[in-house]
Amino acid sequence: MSTPLDTDFARDLVRGLKNHPRRLFPRYLYDDVGSALFEVITLLPEYLITRSETQLLRSSSAEIAAQLPSGCAVCELGGGRGAKAKFLLSGLAKRDRQVKYFPVDVSRWALDETVIGMEGIDDVVTTPICDTYLDGLVQVEERIDKRPLVVLFLGSNLGNFDLPQRDEFIARVSACLKTGDALLLGVDMVKPKALLHEAYDDPIGATAAFNKNILARINREFEANFDPRAYGHTAVWNENESRMELGLVSHRAQRVVIPCLGLDLDFEQGERIVTEYSYKFNPSDIDEVAKKGGFSVQGTWTHAEGRFSESLLIKTGVKTR
Ligand code: TRP
Repeated sequence: MSTPLDTDFARDLVRGLKNHPRRLFPRYLYDDVGSALFEVITLLPEYLITRSETQLLRSSSAEIAAQLPSGCAVCELGGGRGAKAKFLLSGLAKRDRQVKYFPVDVSRWALDETVIGMEGIDDVVTTPICDTYLDGLVQVEERIDKRPLVVLFLGSNLGNFDLPQRDEFIARVSACLKTGDALLLGVDMVKPKALLHEAYDDPIGATAAFNKNILARINREFEANFDPRAYGHTAVWNENESRMELGLVSHRAQRVVIPCLGLDLDFEQGERIVTEYSYKFNPSDIDEVAKKGGFSVQGTWTHAEGRFSESLLIKTGVKTR
């Protein structure tokens, strides 16, 4: 067993698996295996998020970069291999001559890939930080002195928070920023239900494998006895809440034990574990996020088919650090 018992993961497992409905939290999907499987998802034609955002950044990054404070450092939260940040970073590097880039991710594998991917881009100095979003951001803040900071929060990662968590998270990011610092927020827009189903339940089962990996990860790290084959991947659109609900459903009645955590869990046939909510956004949601976090929306770039949008939020008001 490699994961100690006094970690967030251990505590969240105890809390989440006893909950009704049972819950596992999205960040634990991204160990190295999960991160690599997610990169496969981003290559699927059905998964529109990455495809649309890449197109959008490819065509708009010069315009976006021109609006970022000169001499800024860039911190990317949960960027995986950092493929999308490249467009902006190369634009910035041309203007500022040298850009400091701090990718923050929970997967060491993803960070190693990011560093390799940046090698070909002149004048970008990459410092990977293996940590969670906010702890990582605090570390970045400590390393950049008085330089302006631009935080990239792409891939609709914001959509993985519940609404109260979303507000709290944005407030905490905002508290780390100085007046004039920026947050570039990429969010997935509400779209027809059929497109969402295809994106979250793809025909070759890559998404199902990614989702089930969390059970295998718990087995690997806590000597649990989940049988990933005995669970099915589920992806349901909840219209009222404007979110996709991703989960794992138990094919049969079964008992799962995680002795080191004192967990003895009886699953009924058809019982579900929620692994992630993925909220989809309307334009007014972004205005609300900005307002609550003390930002003004400096610009919004929307994908040609309205699938995805990129908003540049600038921190207003008094200096908080
Ligand atoms: N953050 C991604 C999203 O909301 C993650 C994701 C894609 C995901 N497919 C999934 C999470 C399936 C759980 C299950 O799109």
